[in-house]
Amino acid sequence: MCGIVGYIGNNNAKTIVMDGLRRLEYRGYDSAGVSLFNPDTNGFELIKKKGRIVNLEAALPGYSTPIAIGHTRWATHGKVSQENAHPHVSASGRFTIVHNGVIDNHMELRKRYLEHVEFKSQTDSEVIVELIDLFSKNLSTDSAIRKTLSALEGSYALLVMDNTDPFTMYGAKHKSPLLLGKGEEGMVIGSDMMALIDVADNYLALDDETLVRMDTKNFTLYNIDGDVLPYKLSKLEVDEIDSDKGEFDHFMLKEIHEQPAVLRRIIGEYFNETHIRIDDALIHSIASRDRIYILAAGTSMHAGLVGKTLIEKLTDIPVEVHVASEFAYDPPKLTANPQFIMISQSGETADLRACLMNLKKDAHPTLTLTNVKTSTLAREADHFLQLFAGPEIAVASTKAYTAQIAVLAILGYALSAQSFDLKRELSEVAIAMEDFLSKSNSIESDVKTLLTKRNAFYIGRGLDNKVCMEAALKLKEISYIQTEGFAAGELKHGTIALIEEDTPVIAIIANEKTAENTRSNLSEVESRGAKTYTIALESVAHDDDDIVLNNVSPLLSPLITVIPTQLIAYYAALHRDLDIDKPRNLAKSVTVE
Ligand code: G6P
Repeated sequence: MCGIVGYIGNNNAKTIVMDGLRRLEYRGYDSAGVSLFNPDTNGFELIKKKGRIVNLEAALPGYSTPIAIGHTRWATHGKVSQENAHPHVSASGRFTIVHNGVIDNHMELRKRYLEHVEFKSQTDSEVIVELIDLFSKNLSTDSAIRKTLSALEGSYALLVMDNTDPFTMYGAKHKSPLLLGKGEEGMVIGSDMMALIDVADNYLALDDETLVRMDTKNFTLYNIDGDVLPYKLSKLEVDEIDSDKGEFDHFMLKEIHEQPAVLRRIIGEYFNETHIRIDDALIHSIASRDRIYILAAGTSMHAGLVGKTLIEKLTDIPVEVHVASEFAYDPPKLTANPQFIMISQSGETADLRACLMNLKKDAHPTLTLTNVKTSTLAREADHFLQLFAGPEIAVASTKAYTAQIAVLAILGYALSAQSFDLKRELSEVAIAMEDFLSKSNSIESDVKTLLTKRNAFYIGRGLDNKVCMEAALKLKEISYIQTEGFAAGELKHGTIALIEEDTPVIAIIANEKTAENTRSNLSEVESRGAKTYTIALESVAHDDDDIVLNNVSPLLSPLITVIPTQLIAYYAALHRDLDIDKPRNLAKSVTVE
């Protein structure tokens, strides 16, 4: 989703901002733009382009500059177009901004203050730059920005430049992330830690409703009333940035293949000889709760569904899983003594943050499971557990999903009486993953003949059904084949009406208790013309199954059954010649509600 980068300092801001924007590309965007200080004219030059960053790059001027801001936009208000791309410049030409987030009251603000303005874009963001311009007629820039922020409702991460004072840059944040980095040669500011690397040694994650004023050497932090705030910089330590696809054609394929190594890393990080490395106090506290509520979105929510089964099988604590965007505004009736677990690869999902803010208001205990230890949700929850999946660049999440399940299994195990050897069982899963990945070549050609229709189904029961939901999401996300993940036994209660000649139905069969029931459901759809495909664990496999996976502990089967489904999605998208790592309309980190 939208990305922001700004730089002010002794080095070439154009290069730094463009490098930063490229590092944020993985988040998903549909247009990009920069504003550069032009030393020849002593003013700012605006360049924006629809589509990929390469389009913007081709249009950049040759000069070096000490000050620049840049933005990648993921459209929310107004279509994808050059006019709607950021930065936005006020009609007078004085102020330039980039904005992430959504201004909920932009219509009201237009009516109240800005009827005289002819807007150039359809965005909510342009209102911000016009308000700053308006208020600056009677106030200093600093005060005009603060007055504007007080009028805004919604979320923002914002950078502002004033062409009457070009060597000062302003940043402000509310609900959308903004991080400030300080290096030897200058200040960098961005919406993601990835934008800060190479420039900053130390960083500060801005709190809501704080502002920063930067020059080439230093910065001042203050609140909306203008009071200067104290701060403490932290050392910038980004997880190894693995921006190289290595031998693979796409990040997604590389990340699928990284899963055995990720699992081994998780085992190494969470187990020592005698103990699990999760804070004892946290385990005791969760163990004393009467219910766990897992909140998440997308793939992470699907990992949560598997986590619910794991924790309920290993402990006596009931678990509910909720979609974050629903929970935030329509929560269920809570038990007396709940524990909340937020699962998020990025740690930045706005729907989850909205939940977290409400939970904190009511002083509920919160734990975040995230891949990004510096993320907002990691910082703001009472506790956090790291996924150790390493940076996930492909928009479609794969290794983070299996990492989430593994960490949930370890958490469940830590909460349980521990009568089995989870470390060994997880190691066996890593071997099974590796074994399958080394001989998974048939999937590429299978997919060609199997997925010939506009729609498809995954069916399974119990944990298999939960994997089916994730498998279906993966396939639709990147191949655009409309796919449903369905409880195998439920298909006949209505949805079977959609089965026609050659409709692909893929079954996941790992559960001994229900394997034969799922096979009966497969026969039902075959009788109606469906083309079927089976992914089975060895213990329940038939000779004619299409994919047979090594046996693993039944509770951990999602960690292995999901792998072929990730490859099915990958090859389906590859055959269709689609942009696998950056599927249309999607964003890696969804920072608007
Ligand atoms: C976006 C991504 C999904 C992801 C979801 C939740 O929609 O495209 O792949 O599952 O956000 O993201 P999170 O970072 O919270 O796991």
